[in-house]
Amino acid sequence: MSETAQLKIGDKTFELPVIEGTEGEKAIDISKLRDQSGYVTLDIGYKNTGATKSAITFLDGEKGILKYRGYSIEQLAENASFIEVAYLLIYGELPKEQELADFQYQISRHTLVHEDMKKFFDGFPSKSHPMGQLSSLIGALAAFNPESLKPGLSAGEVNLEIMKLLAKMSTVVSWIYKKSLGHPVVYPQNKYDYVTNFLYMTFAERTEDYKVDRVVVDVMNKLLILHADHEQNCSTSTVRIVGSSDANLYASISAGISALWGPLHGGANQAVIEMLEKIKNDGGDTDKWIAKAKDKNDPFRLMGFGHRVYKNFDPRAKIIKKACDDILEKLGINDEVLEIAKKLEEVALKDPYFVERKLYPNVDFYSGIIYRALGFPTEMFTVLFALGRLPGWIAQWKEMKANKEPIGRPRQIYTGDTDREYKDIKER
Ligand code: CMC
Repeated sequence: MSETAQLKIGDKTFELPVIEGTEGEKAIDISKLRDQSGYVTLDIGYKNTGATKSAITFLDGEKGILKYRGYSIEQLAENASFIEVAYLLIYGELPKEQELADFQYQISRHTLVHEDMKKFFDGFPSKSHPMGQLSSLIGALAAFNPESLKPGLSAGEVNLEIMKLLAKMSTVVSWIYKKSLGHPVVYPQNKYDYVTNFLYMTFAERTEDYKVDRVVVDVMNKLLILHADHEQNCSTSTVRIVGSSDANLYASISAGISALWGPLHGGANQAVIEMLEKIKNDGGDTDKWIAKAKDKNDPFRLMGFGHRVYKNFDPRAKIIKKACDDILEKLGINDEVLEIAKKLEEVALKDPYFVERKLYPNVDFYSGIIYRALGFPTEMFTVLFALGRLPGWIAQWKEMKANKEPIGRPRQIYTGDTDREYKDIKER
């Protein structure tokens, strides 16, 4: 007989089904609880609530395990290309040679964006944040692809929109960078693979010959793979919940980009470098800043530290730290903030405040130092996170549709005033 949980409220007992995932985690299914008992459950911030069943990404925060479709992040980061991982996340299997070639070819057919999209850049103030630009430009793609708004798209039609979005995202991201410099945009070269093409559009100049450096391509592939999915985090849950209203793919991803922007989520990579710079300019006294992070009367937090799920270590941070050392050495860069970051980590990992709260460096702690070494300005860091996360968002959106999930609509416990009499404005 399958396992159940019993919930006793007053003199009544309710039987609740227990469901088990393939990696052994268990959940109490409360979906019928309100119908049976009149009670809802309350879990602010969803700290203990599963919002869906998903076969895409598994993570074990206690053991520091992260797997995409059953493959460990360590193996994927070491051996795969970003586009291979995108295929894996979206279609569930690692592609065979021909499948990968077809996938790349299909994407390459859609790398151009409508020329009128460039007019948006005339409207953005020169100092506007790249994430604000990205979210609006990706939302605008729906307006440039009205066929994507048709209700009841076939699987083939949905797939076409997925190809378009994957292709155009990298062009849009590189154009945001070019426009921030006031430079002319560089058009895609479809002879290149996805990541090479992105770097080419970003760093090539019309005035010079440009050769994409393999070392840079490799580290960029690794970074994008490490960011490609992370189960039901804030932005991914946003993508699923927006998509559950039957909103189109572009609108759903644009909403996810906005969610990612926050400094407690993807915006942390920018915040980390800004913090490290501040510490450097303040004389590099890491003890002082650790003390500030611990002080409950000081709003300062050690950015790039802590995670809702990882309570042991973040496996992505381990890989990134090593990649950071490697790339700085290969490019012959000596970045003072890397030393500050290592010192902060060393001090924090021994400090009881951080140890007791299980706060470890997360994916964002070292990634910014790599982006900076590659030549990206700080404000572009979260945009790069979004580029990496795109296949995960798409896979999750597609899964939510395939599972025919109902519209996302949480309950609440109302704590406001009860009945009040309307008073005329002069009498208030
Ligand atoms: N510095 C100082 N104290 C911290 C930090 C930090 N970075 N993170 C958590 N704490 C403390 C927090 O004050 C609380 O202390 P107490 O129990 O005394 O009140 C305790 O640790 C638990 O923190 P929490 O905020 O309740 O934990 P959470 O699971 O709600 O938040 C987090 C997780 C990632 C938002 C948080 O750790 C944080 O703000 N970190 C800094 C921002 C950051 O690096 N974000 C990137 C996350 S990884 C990438 C991504 O998600 O995109």
